[in-house]
Amino acid sequence: MTTEIIQPARALRGVLRVPSDRSITVRAAILAGIAEGVSRIREPLESDDTNAALGCMAALGVQVAPLGGCDPLGLCIPGLGLRGLRAPAQPLFCNSSGTTMRLLAGFLAGQAFDSVLDGSEQLRRRPMRRVTEPLRRMGAQIEDTDGGAPLVIRAASNPLHGLTYDMPIASAQVKSALLLAGLYAGAPVTIREPAPTRDHTERMLRAAGVEVVAEAEGDANRITVHPPHEPLRALDMLVPADFSSAAFFIVAAAITPGARVRLVEVGLNSTRTGLLDALRAMGAAISVNNLREEGGEPVGDLEVAGGELRGVEVGGALTPRMIDEFPIFAVAATQAHGVTVVRDAEELRVKESNRLEGFVGELRKLGARIEATADGFVVEGPARLRGAVVDSLGDHRVAMALAVAGLCAEGKTTILGAECVAKTYPAFFRDLSLLVAGC
Ligand code: S3P
Repeated sequence: MTTEIIQPARALRGVLRVPSDRSITVRAAILAGIAEGVSRIREPLESDDTNAALGCMAALGVQVAPLGGCDPLGLCIPGLGLRGLRAPAQPLFCNSSGTTMRLLAGFLAGQAFDSVLDGSEQLRRRPMRRVTEPLRRMGAQIEDTDGGAPLVIRAASNPLHGLTYDMPIASAQVKSALLLAGLYAGAPVTIREPAPTRDHTERMLRAAGVEVVAEAEGDANRITVHPPHEPLRALDMLVPADFSSAAFFIVAAAITPGARVRLVEVGLNSTRTGLLDALRAMGAAISVNNLREEGGEPVGDLEVAGGELRGVEVGGALTPRMIDEFPIFAVAATQAHGVTVVRDAEELRVKESNRLEGFVGELRKLGARIEATADGFVVEGPARLRGAVVDSLGDHRVAMALAVAGLCAEGKTTILGAECVAKTYPAFFRDLSLLVAGC
């Protein structure tokens, strides 16, 4: 177990390109494997989660190689086509990557071979019936283990059935699993999501030539994938920096008086950037420059300056747009004047940890006035945080949020189990010290 010590920082300054997007890299690895022709994925994320996705694709026969020539930072993935994968000799090991397991469950349900999906103890504890149940409605032969992994998938002898599905929770992973299964269905698959969730799968499928139609229905969204008549086109894309990794530095800068941080080439898909809306409503000074499109995704540079924040209420359709940012948002709320209330965030209980109880408990050890509620949390600020020994609970986003809290605490903060940041951001502590040293 690795321990990290965080000392208080007076200010933060510098320019950073945080590592690439985990959600996009995992999707690119999967889609490239079933496309026809050679995909070029530039600047993919290299982390425990993306290694798990690439390892599973390799076990299905996909030969991933580094990009050669003048563009060495990338992957070259010769696709095997929709029906060219080979049966894996052993269970596919997804490590702790929920995205890998749920998305693979979708497209493996349509394959003509048996497979088993398994993962770490942490992943085995996460709910999988949310994907196995609708997949069974499509005629898939898929069994979970008491609602979780391992998942046992039997060969599909016929095309899967079409489906119209009202998703009970706003989950991009469930939606993506069903869209990928839809590639192997005999009729369209339509999913209604209660609120818009990240749409990277839809964008990437369209780039591969698949017909995907999205329609707004009030606050909700209706997405239909049509079974493709042509092979999927190979991808040629640059993966932007991960907004969810940038979030730690956005908040660190926003709560530190005198801070000025620029984060470049950040993915700014509006289904992901709810944190910007919430922080701006709190009074944060954040500007977006150089807005452009890369590989079908909006990308830009963010400039964040430190200042005073005030409490805010977050709920409804904003919650899924910042679902991975609540541990770090809670840290921002501890420094804001007044009360911050978060609602509609029950999903936080089934992330890498019971995140809600987890970060609430650990932030209280630092002196935060924060309480968990049935579907979110309430914070009273501003609080003078005091360094203490805290635990990551094996959750990368809790570890990184506690590190930022440590920057504005008095005295030193010791983070136990800090190695879990490798899930999405292996060099997090190095990058944090670069910004602290930049002052
Ligand atoms: C993800 C979707 C979200 C998010 C997770 C990554 C994805 O999960 O929390 O970190 O890549 O699709 P849910 O879709 O289960 O909310």
